[in-house]
Amino acid sequence: MIQKVIWITGASTGIGKEIAMEFSRAGHIVVVTARRKSRLVKIVSEIKFADREASAFVCNVMSERSVQITAKRIREKYGSIDVLINNAGVTVFKSFLETKTPDYDNVIDTNLRGSFLCIKNVIPQMIKSKKGHIINILSVSANTAFENSSVYAASKAGLLALSNGLREEVRRYNIKISNILPGATETPMWDSRSRQRYKNRMMSPADIARITLEVFQQPRKVLIEEVIIRPVKGDI
Ligand SMILES: NC(=O)c1ccc[n+]([C@@H]2O[C@H](COP(=O)([O-])OP(=O)(O)OC[C@H]3O[C@@H](n4cnc5c(N)ncnc54)[C@H](OP(=O)(O)O)[C@@H]3O)[C@@H](O)[C@H]2O)c1
Repeated sequence: MIQKVIWITGASTGIGKEIAMEFSRAGHIVVVTARRKSRLVKIVSEIKFADREASAFVCNVMSERSVQITAKRIREKYGSIDVLINNAGVTVFKSFLETKTPDYDNVIDTNLRGSFLCIKNVIPQMIKSKKGHIINILSVSANTAFENSSVYAASKAGLLALSNGLREEVRRYNIKISNILPGATETPMWDSRSRQRYKNRMMSPADIARITLEVFQQPRKVLIEEVIIRPVKGDI
């Protein structure tokens, strides 16, 4: 196993946290970033307690400067960023009419622009070293219509399109771009009522983390471009 440096955005809770734990158990160095420092520090101490290497940096993906500084700090500490997992995300469960411009800005600036900024800050080095893997945690709403999710869907469909275009530009440098589209997963993204009501039906964040690791662990010449993961009983 070759140990890699894995940057996971939005790793303070939910799917991102489980991805960090899964990649760490597989022997990789994980760098967890998000806005809530105390949660990140807890994750890193848990990993270090098991004698594995991890770091935490506060990074708000809505801020270009914050993303630039974080990418620089990771490189200074570990030399390179081998894998970027764009997981940081927010949603707004509102009808289009109820959705206000600040809701739109928050969702698009986090999910789409935030991922764009992170990619921007890792891709030149990946091109130079002719290797790297970017994995985006999207959503089934990128290709399936739901009520009360139009802006969230736009952010995920936007990143899907961006990544598909980017993939064609960077294949020649041996860089892999993978999109994972999960359905309902039991995380703090859902309010407690929905979690309670659907918990027997929703997937767990650990399920998504396991599949994310599998997407990464393919042979050098194999690229899983897109994965759709749904609860057996379908969407909620
Ligand atoms: N749960 C589902 O059903 C589901 C289904 C499909 C896809 N997804 C996607 O999975 C990803 C993870 O979501 P989750 O379900 O695990 O929800 P979650 O537990 O709420 O996690 C969201 C993560 O994003 C971080 N985040 C939010 N805004 C940020 C910002 N501006 N800068 C940096 N980090 C930010 C949060 O950390 P801080 O607040 O500490 O910054 C948190 O760690 C999201 O992209 C989501 O769209 C979720």
